[in-house]
Amino acid sequence: MKIFVTGGAGFIGSEFVRQAVPNHQVINFDKLTYAGNLDNLASVAKHPNYSLAVGDICDSKAVAGALPENCDAIVHFAAESHVDRSILSAEEFVRTNVVGTQVMLDVARHRKVKRFLHISTDEVGGDMPPNGWLNSDSPLRPSSPYAASKTASEHFVRAAVHTFGIDALITRTSNNYGPYQFPEKLLPLAISNALEDRPIPVYGDGMQVRDWIHVTDNCRALLAVLERGRSGVTYHMGGGGPLANIDVLKLLLKILGKPETLLTTVTDRLGHDRRYAVDFSDTTKELGWRPEISFEEGLRATVDWYRNNTEWVRRCRSGEYRKYYEEMYGEREATAQAI
Ligand code: NAD
Ligand code: TYD
Repeated sequence: MKIFVTGGAGFIGSEFVRQAVPNHQVINFDKLTYAGNLDNLASVAKHPNYSLAVGDICDSKAVAGALPENCDAIVHFAAESHVDRSILSAEEFVRTNVVGTQVMLDVARHRKVKRFLHISTDEVGGDMPPNGWLNSDSPLRPSSPYAASKTASEHFVRAAVHTFGIDALITRTSNNYGPYQFPEKLLPLAISNALEDRPIPVYGDGMQVRDWIHVTDNCRALLAVLERGRSGVTYHMGGGGPLANIDVLKLLLKILGKPETLLTTVTDRLGHDRRYAVDFSDTTKELGWRPEISFEEGLRATVDWYRNNTEWVRRCRSGEYRKYYEEMYGEREATAQAI
């Protein structure tokens, strides 16, 4: 397939690109915001199946200019993805996540792209009751500005399927973890702080429950959905075991051999959802996919990765990964630039 990936320099997008490149032609369209890091793609950068175009998904001319003829699929990851940032300011979330998705859908329709895979999140269901599990029948009750923008983007995808008959699918995934995750999200932040014996911030009582899926398992599912999923359907993916943040962090410290005194309670996130849980039986039943990496196994591997890639973390934290682009490409333009 000829696949146009948006947001392929981010955490999940880059894993998808690394998995897809051996078998598919991949064009990575990315604005390279603070979350876009070309270091994540060093292993495929020179592969003949891979190319990069720098541009903004809200800029329809840039998207259309970078989209190849006879494109088989758009896989749409590009988004503002961090809840805490959306609480500080929601504007960029509305622009990128909502307007950007609509632009992508319009370009896909006008250019007759065969399939559109929209990457969504379990957060669209909002706070789940103690025994509740998100599936296709669940009401959409987003609580954070981030989740609200992702829910709105899903509505635009369904509207495009209904109104224009485009071939589009949605995936909702739980919290991903694994290598190359920007150290502002819980696990990479906790791992990199603990490795340096720095405190780990625990929001509120730490009893918030999340379902953790290894990014490799998630991207295997995305490829299965892309290749064999049915248009108009929403597929769910999870790791299979919702866990309280405090238990996740205690397990992490045990793996690292670090003391629990590193855990430091800080003021809770505003409107913090207590529980997310995903019922992914639809994806297992229809596509035969299920997560293969247990949380403990995945966490150990992730810890090893961060331990062996302190230079990646250092470049993230110092901002060097961005200076590199500026030096190499000069002032970045709003339009797409093939690199
Ligand atoms: P990320 O923040 O690591 O990466 C986002 C990427 O999108 C970056 O490369 C960034 O440069 C690019 N981007 C941002 N704005 C852009 C724009 N206007 N034009 C072009 N590119 C732009 O995100 P992630 O964690 O990899 O998440 C990817 C997708 O998966 C998002 O849609 C997110 O909502 C969804 N998701 C993430 C998780 C998770 O746990 N991380 C869980 C469920 C769903
Ligand atoms: P995060 O990684 O930001 O993902 P999301 O908000 O999308 O679930 O946070 C995961 C959980 O960890 C969430 O309940 C908030 C909490 N958290 C902390 O307790 N401390 C932190 O420093 C961060 C970043 C998150």
